[in-house]
Amino acid sequence: MASITIRNLDESTKQALRERAAQNGRSMEEEARLLLAELEQGSPGLTAGIVEHKSTDYPAIPVAAAGSSSEPPIAGFPAAGKCVLLIISGGIAAYKSLDLIRRLRERGVHVRAVMTAAAQQFITPLSVGALTADKVFTDLFDREDEQDVGHIRLARNCDLIVVAPATADLMAKMANGLANDLASTVLLATNRPVLIAPAMNPAMWSHRATRRNAETLRRDGIHFIGPMAGEMAESGEAGEGRMAEPMQIVERIGELLDTRPKPLRGKRAIVTSGPTHEPIDPVRYIANRSSGKQGHAIAAALAELGAEVILVSGPVSIPDPRDCEVVRVESAREMQRMVEAALPADIAVMVAAVADWRSKGEATEKMKKEGGKGPSHLELTENPDILKGLGHHKQRPGLLIGFAAETEKIVEHAQAKLERKKADWIVANDVSPDSGIGDAGGVMGGDRNRVRILSRDGVEEWPELTKKQVAERLAARICDHLAATTTIA
Ligand SMILES: Cc1cc2nc3c(=O)[nH]c(=O)nc-3n(C[C@H](O)[C@H](O)[C@H](O)COP(=O)(O)O)c2cc1C
Repeated sequence: MASITIRNLDESTKQALRERAAQNGRSMEEEARLLLAELEQGSPGLTAGIVEHKSTDYPAIPVAAAGSSSEPPIAGFPAAGKCVLLIISGGIAAYKSLDLIRRLRERGVHVRAVMTAAAQQFITPLSVGALTADKVFTDLFDREDEQDVGHIRLARNCDLIVVAPATADLMAKMANGLANDLASTVLLATNRPVLIAPAMNPAMWSHRATRRNAETLRRDGIHFIGPMAGEMAESGEAGEGRMAEPMQIVERIGELLDTRPKPLRGKRAIVTSGPTHEPIDPVRYIANRSSGKQGHAIAAALAELGAEVILVSGPVSIPDPRDCEVVRVESAREMQRMVEAALPADIAVMVAAVADWRSKGEATEKMKKEGGKGPSHLELTENPDILKGLGHHKQRPGLLIGFAAETEKIVEHAQAKLERKKADWIVANDVSPDSGIGDAGGVMGGDRNRVRILSRDGVEEWPELTKKQVAERLAARICDHLAATTTIA
């Protein structure tokens, strides 16, 4: 095998090698080794990787390192081709960062890692380096890397810094601007967005000092994912403090690095979702089987296209959609108040399964069985019609869409609703449990839906889709409609 001694090179070659190594984020020895290997193999692959990345702002990560060599990268990830600097700090959840690297790389993301000294007590730089296929940076005072102030390049030659897990200690350093090791120095020197995934014992997370630090970091514009509630790695411990799962972090990274167009930017949308609960007495209520899955998915799809979304949601047990302002309500009357308070809006999608009736007089005490008198009678009164109210409102949203949950004569009923409520479109779905849509139980509570879109132009039948697909398709249709009806001065 060919060899060279850097010390014996002439000054100008040494300088060229130094510059090339600096540009590629490698030590001079590494750079020389790669050049020699390339010469020996006559292989253009690695050089192509180096050359390609030289032309960008990223440190060199060989092209082959972006995805797994044996499998093609998973297509369509919005952050594919981007560079993430992953900082691993010293928590039990450090093992999850290995999976995070794998998941990112199989989606075509370049990953470069920094580990704190404590992190190396939990996982080794060897495993991290084997997964990133790159050098792992651990030392601020590395004589080779710091010949040209490598920590500053590390801090800036990436698209996003992700700290996972983020320990209470590293968060405290970040919040106070400390820079006494490579990780904290990079975080202080960076001009890139930073996402942190805190992970710690619930007592540490709820400590006032950590709360203060988290608040400071949020104010400083640091993005957070988690921590989540649940079982901790320490036996017998549970609460808020678990690191978000690698795939949740991947998804967030995709969103933060998503440069796809946002055609609904500047548009305001109100979406309602879930059931309403109509009180009978302090412990009982009238409700329905709506899960909120369809409404929440529509709110998420509109937000993903850049709309400012206010989601007015009845009681549901699913997570809030990202990037939406969520207003929680119980009853139809409350929902109506909150929807009207959110006006004006360009778009309103009324998905909530609002109870048609409520109990006429809410009992202030729990209603009692009275022996021998038979069951009590519940007197009902009509709830306000939120969709109709918007259709006739002086601040009527530019595009008003209602949902019609029907169990029979679906098109006929939806058509009547379109007229009566002065809506632009009605999305009609068959909510009978035996509709054959999705799993047993049908649309209400399920993950699938089959809808028809009724407008004054006619009826459009959509195939059975997941609720997420229905939401994305509806959001795209909204975009097309707004683009077609917006007058450009
Ligand atoms: C077994 C063990 C597990 C730990 N787990 C965590 C943890 O999950 N989160 C955390 O914030 N600190 C945890 N610590 C404490 C950190 O390792 C400690 O604060 C360390 O100084 C963090 O250094 P770093 O922020 O530079 O990585 C743990 C310590 C030990 C010994």
